[in-house]
Amino acid sequence: MPRHVAIIMDGNGRWASRRLMPRGMGHRAGVDALVRTVQACARRGIAYLTVFAFSSENWQRPQEEVSGLMSLVLSTVGRHLEELASKGVRVRIIGDRSAVSDKVNQAWLQAEEATRHNQGLTLTVAFSYGGRWDVVQACRRALESGIRPQDLDEAAIARHLSLSYAPDPDLLIRTGGEMRISNFLLWQSAYTELYFTDCLWPDFNEVELDRALQSYARRDRRFGRVTDADAGVPKV
Ligand code: FPP
Repeated sequence: MPRHVAIIMDGNGRWASRRLMPRGMGHRAGVDALVRTVQACARRGIAYLTVFAFSSENWQRPQEEVSGLMSLVLSTVGRHLEELASKGVRVRIIGDRSAVSDKVNQAWLQAEEATRHNQGLTLTVAFSYGGRWDVVQACRRALESGIRPQDLDEAAIARHLSLSYAPDPDLLIRTGGEMRISNFLLWQSAYTELYFTDCLWPDFNEVELDRALQSYARRDRRFGRVTDADAGVPKV
């Protein structure tokens, strides 16, 4: 079982279009899929779930869709926070908060504060997040802390990345049929196993999650090394 699962929740717009609904309805159905998935991951003992809810690039979507997504944050925190908190879920947000309105930042803060002492699954919502932004802000913060450029190594950068509290993701799932990372956890997914499915995010459920987990269980994770079998070491 992976300790840390990351998900690019893609396909909300297409899910809605296929039903002749506005895209916003797809995002709303996406929230239901997210709540289902958090609970399913918690039941399976997964410690960290990190989801890409709004990318640095998503600001360029039509104004109406952006404001719809912002309203969805407020209603989602209002509707689901208590339930998730009661199940021991800890909520954390990563991303560029300076780009987000006070109202939305307040809602995220409320979610983080209300779940601060929870010991169950840690749900990280990447919001106004980009992997390149994360590396840049980590380098800036490391230098601001007084580190000398020659001492700026991988460990120093990793300490300042916004997900520094979590192990690197073991498994990255992308729904919606595209096979790319789209500026998600660039640094952290160096050795992450990738899993792509055509399933549109609002249709994602426990069966789909288990398919991804089964695929992960069959992977041979070498982290750049060779296995005993590759090296010709006989099994004992
Ligand atoms: C991608 O689908 C999805 C997003 C840009 C938003 C994901 C957001 C949610 C699942 C819900 C929001 C979560 C919170 C916590 C409020 P797309 O619109 O790119 O779909 P498409 O590729 O079919 O157009």
